[in-house]
Amino acid sequence: MLKGKIAIVTGGTRGIGYAIVEKYLENHATVILCGSRQETADKAVAKLKEAHPGCPVEGIAPDLTDYASIKAAFDGVREKYGRIDILVNNAGMSSSDPLSAYTPELFHKVMSLNVDAVFYCIRAVYDAMEAQGSGCILNTSSMVSRYGQPKGVAYPTSKAAINGMTLSLARELGPRRISAAADVLQRFIGWCGYNTGVGHLAGALAAELTELR
Ligand SMILES: NC(=O)c1ccc[n+]([C@@H]2O[C@H](COP(=O)([O-])OP(=O)(O)OC[C@H]3O[C@@H](n4cnc5c(N)ncnc54)[C@H](OP(=O)(O)O)[C@@H]3O)[C@@H](O)[C@H]2O)c1
Repeated sequence: MLKGKIAIVTGGTRGIGYAIVEKYLENHATVILCGSRQETADKAVAKLKEAHPGCPVEGIAPDLTDYASIKAAFDGVREKYGRIDILVNNAGMSSSDPLSAYTPELFHKVMSLNVDAVFYCIRAVYDAMEAQGSGCILNTSSMVSRYGQPKGVAYPTSKAAINGMTLSLARELGPRRISAAADVLQRFIGWCGYNTGVGHLAGALAAELTELR
């Protein structure tokens, strides 16, 4: 049960993020989902409200490459709801180009969304969680962070960075009762294989991880 909890889910418009949002709503959390555009966020909210009439969900679209944009949006959430309990850093992108076609621009684009934005979002919720003396941060990693992949070098690089960021923050923030976990996708994919029913199982696991902490 997550009644009274305020959760922000990036990349909540579709796929795994959408399933996590649904799972949180089923567990009675209030959810603020983030999309890359306000239009996609609004569309996801409309779909959720149709499936779960009256559910407490809203959509925002901060620019995840810009710390100031994220901070302003998340401060708005804190101002409106008084707290931020859960942050799920789920937005991500990949590219499977071979090294011969991989440009520095593409490498930086993947790293910017998959790594920099995760740090920005965590930094932007930290003050609220610190003041509350509690919080839960879930970062979406991937099995390829451990095993690599034959093409698309930036993606496994970015997810390995997420593992390091999460382990470090778990150690730093644990004593402040703010938990950080990155095993959502790693654990889950070990169970059921790549891309098979990803959404709902990952959503269930995210809810479980959040409740445990
Ligand atoms: N699918 C898998 O099998 C798998 C496996 C391992 C790990 N993962 C990880 O799980 C997470 C979700 O994967 P998925 O397959 O569910 O993703 P997806 O279906 O491709 O959805 C991506 C989500 O990220 C948002 N997004 C994309 N680019 C963005 C940007 N520049 N700024 C803000 N938001 C942006 C999208 O929002 P809009 O709809 O508004 O554009 C969408 O909500 C990712 O971190 C991915 O790396 C996935």
